[in-house]
Amino acid sequence: MFNRIREDIANIRIKDPAARSGLEVALCYPGLHALVLHRWAHLAWGAGLTTLARWISQVSRWLTGIEIHPGARVGRRVFIDHGMGVVIGETAEIGDDCTIYQGVTLGGVSLDRGKRHPTLEKGVIVGAGAKVLGPFSVGAGAKIGSNAVVTKPVPAGATAVGNPARIIHPGVELQREQAANRMGFSAYGVSSDTDDPLTRALHGLIDQAIAQQRRIEQLEAALRQAGMGDAVGAANVQAAADQTALQQLNRLVDD
Ligand SMILES: CC(C)(COP(=O)(O)OP(=O)(O)OC[C@H]1O[C@@H](n2cnc3c(N)ncnc32)[C@H](O)[C@@H]1OP(=O)(O)O)[C@@H](O)C(=O)NCCC(=O)NCCS
Repeated sequence: MFNRIREDIANIRIKDPAARSGLEVALCYPGLHALVLHRWAHLAWGAGLTTLARWISQVSRWLTGIEIHPGARVGRRVFIDHGMGVVIGETAEIGDDCTIYQGVTLGGVSLDRGKRHPTLEKGVIVGAGAKVLGPFSVGAGAKIGSNAVVTKPVPAGATAVGNPARIIHPGVELQREQAANRMGFSAYGVSSDTDDPLTRALHGLIDQAIAQQRRIEQLEAALRQAGMGDAVGAANVQAAADQTALQQLNRLVDD
């Protein structure tokens, strides 16, 4: 037990730049107190002493503002920072090295008795006020933005933000912007709001253009390999000429 507490204190000192000493962490970090009490509650829960387990959990809640159901499984070096308002449900599982900030709920959305709370895999960070609701997994190393409401699985390493949480794909956004630039407009004008049908249609068109561009590049490479580089060059010259003619036509229309 003392080894685990020592490990937790060392972990908090690494993860919280505000922590000045081991003594300060031992005395002033409710997340640490809640985890120590949870270990006792979980032990009692496992031994079938369910009321005692719930009572320990309740005392912990009075003292720390953090409510962890005694049935929840919590890994090693988990850091609950500040902690006030955290609620962790009965069938929630928290992997090693996760960080959870104040106001987080790992909750359920059904009244079924089975698995109904989320599983956080190793190294997940859940931002302040985020709600993760349902019996799905948040993949290893994923980040949940503060105040996000997550109702679907999050892939490992991904970042999920907003309500309902959307996964940020930095690579895809860059490709879309480049394709949109080629098509002559800015994708920044298209919000990432996937609920808007017009936005979804525009993203679909941009993605289609990216896929076509990739296919043309593959065909060109294949033609060059087959010794038809001249034909590819001629086609590109023709395309550039068409583009110039198009621009002239556009100017005429604008004028
Ligand atoms: C989600 C988080 C981990 C993202 O960090 P990141 O990977 O560095 O991402 P970025 O800051 O580059 O932001 C990427 C995009 O997500 C948006 N975003 C970031 N956090 C967001 C949030 N919580 N809610 C909504 N959108 C958010 C950004 O505006 C940006 O959008 P854009 O691409 O349209 O400009 C971070 O913002 C966060 O919320 N961390 C939790 C911190 C916390 O709770 N601290 C409490 C201390 S007491």
